[in-house]
Amino acid sequence: LPDLAKRSDVLLGNLEDAIPIEAKEAARKGFIEMASKVDFGSTGLWTRINALNSPWALADITEIVGAVGNKLDVIMLPKVDGPWDVHYLDQLLAQLEGRYGLKKPVLIHAILETAQGVNNVEAIATASPRMHGMSLGPADLAASRAMKTTRVGGGHPEYKVLADADGEKPRATSQQDLWHYTIAKMVDACAAAGIKPFYGPFGDFSDAAACEAQFRNAFLMGCLGAWSLHPSQIEIAKKVFSPDPTEVAFAKKIVEAMPDGAGAVMIDGKMQDDATWKQAKVLLDLAKLVATKDPAMAARYGV
Ligand code: GLV
Ligand code: MG
Repeated sequence: LPDLAKRSDVLLGNLEDAIPIEAKEAARKGFIEMASKVDFGSTGLWTRINALNSPWALADITEIVGAVGNKLDVIMLPKVDGPWDVHYLDQLLAQLEGRYGLKKPVLIHAILETAQGVNNVEAIATASPRMHGMSLGPADLAASRAMKTTRVGGGHPEYKVLADADGEKPRATSQQDLWHYTIAKMVDACAAAGIKPFYGPFGDFSDAAACEAQFRNAFLMGCLGAWSLHPSQIEIAKKVFSPDPTEVAFAKKIVEAMPDGAGAVMIDGKMQDDATWKQAKVLLDLAKLVATKDPAMAARYGV
């Protein structure tokens, strides 16, 4: 566990789905014990509690915050339908922080995984100053929407476009991204609210390429990270969510060519202006953030 913590930005103790009903209490106790003992250094400590309408949520919140509130950074709240769910947890946390004399506020990370939640995503994003961000939960969202799939994230071979018929020639098909709409909607809601969007789980551990493709689409569209359900996915996530050194080098060129972002210049035949300067800043700032945790990447970025 201490080794896993060193390799990741965040370590999350899951109490919700995938934990059998008869193991719910033991999982909570185990998380509290682990949180008390382990030194997490700069790695964030999160827990995914059970849904607010479940018989375990109240004890999850009160016992964990009471016992290890000062070590806990973020509570991940599943199946958020609207801002009312965030308000409930926000008030409860305020009571517990006062009661146990916590030194800093516990933040809230919502999982976007119900059709109603997607409808209310903007209100959820701005529901509380505790909002850290949100993650797309493709498995529950698929169920909530009655999508006809049996997967945890990723594409589906039958979700595709078909080229027009041209005589007897075989018709080209191209698989489309089932999650494009939701990720875009989530990223806009989060960016507008100044909180962090994440892609959630990818369930097929045997398909590293598909996991990487799903993570990369999310990264390119504005997400800051993804979950790792299996140790093998930590390296995939690190690779994808650390910007490409070639892109970072080009971003540097843009900023060096127009230090204050004003006017327009040409670089390698491509027009640069205020807007590309701002894009370059996003990549450079992210490269600097990655560099603070990863000396090898720092060297490749030259920052
Ligand atoms: C995650 O919780 C999901 O349902 O995809
Ligand atoms: Mg879920």
